[in-house]
Amino acid sequence: MKNRSVITVLMLSVISAFIFSGCQSEKKSLKPGERWLDNNGQPINAHGGGILFHEGTYYWYGEMKQGETYLPECNKKWGGTRVDVTGVSCYSSDDLTNWKDEGIVLPAVKDDPSHDLYFDNVLERPKVVFNAKTNQFVMWMHVDSKDYSKAAAGVAVSDSPTGPFNYIESFRPNAGVWPLNVTASDTIEGVLARDFEGGQMARDMTVFVDDDGKAYHFYSSENNATMHISELTDDYLRPKGEYKRIFTGRKMEAPAVFKRNGKYYFMASGCTAWEPNPARSAVAESIWGPWKELGNPCVGDDAEKTFISQSTYVLPIQGKSDAFVFMADRWNKDDLPDSRYIWLPVQFDENGNIVLEWHDEWDLSVFGK
Ligand code: GAL
Repeated sequence: MKNRSVITVLMLSVISAFIFSGCQSEKKSLKPGERWLDNNGQPINAHGGGILFHEGTYYWYGEMKQGETYLPECNKKWGGTRVDVTGVSCYSSDDLTNWKDEGIVLPAVKDDPSHDLYFDNVLERPKVVFNAKTNQFVMWMHVDSKDYSKAAAGVAVSDSPTGPFNYIESFRPNAGVWPLNVTASDTIEGVLARDFEGGQMARDMTVFVDDDGKAYHFYSSENNATMHISELTDDYLRPKGEYKRIFTGRKMEAPAVFKRNGKYYFMASGCTAWEPNPARSAVAESIWGPWKELGNPCVGDDAEKTFISQSTYVLPIQGKSDAFVFMADRWNKDDLPDSRYIWLPVQFDENGNIVLEWHDEWDLSVFGK
């Protein structure tokens, strides 16, 4: 009799654990490059993404890539495959390992070809930040035309981290404004001068919020040749009108920014579309620079290809000091929805330079307490 009730209790707890976890067994580790499943057993679909930590929960936002991967006529010259836009997805977690699907928080537009988010356009690298003054969640993203000639930044807002986000507008930043470090010749010739009136090109991007609440938009500009750092207004909805050109002519994409021990760190890739290339890294005492390049932080096999991936975000782990996760995409250019996630712990050498090593499998205990 006693045995039977013990067995019943055991069975009930197994069943309730199963139901509670949405029929998925709890995951204990991260396996970079493997297919990561959400609470419904579906592959996590959040590419080119970023993570917001808000009130005890991590929210992962990214490009939902669904449907056929194809090479449009207009991209044939450079081989840029694509999928139609579905929208921005969101997943939530309290351990960065088990993720709950929160749905599409900003959907594509199906019936209005003039809309920025029309499915035939491009929506990439969404990043969400929280504005404590307005109590709003603000999403910045790269919006583009199918041939990537629009090169604009889009902005959406929501009262809740899980949306829905209301799309506001897109623009090329800093129209009619010269950067803080402009030179006389910049104002006469070159892409910066060409785009002065209409605003600067903005493709791959991230948004970084500093400890003092100021937010900065980093975007690949000037035909992806030069990165711009542009301070945002207090409500985070527009450029404030102060920006700088950094890494001039260095052709960087996929920017990710974080702060450690009062220093600013920057990671990025080179410009080779969906193909991997050696990662870049840099450090600065002030967010406005000067930025000192530190080279490719990856070591070991496939280091020169960033472990076959491209940066998207660097996440500070809450409650741990000196703990950061490098987040990257392993793009599959022939089947973009099946692109995988490469997350690795960020290490630092004795000079404070970033070091990234491959791990087949790891968990947050690598960071200690
Ligand atoms: C990459 C960029 C991606 C996407 C892709 C298109 O260089 O980082 O976000 O735009 O090109 O080919």
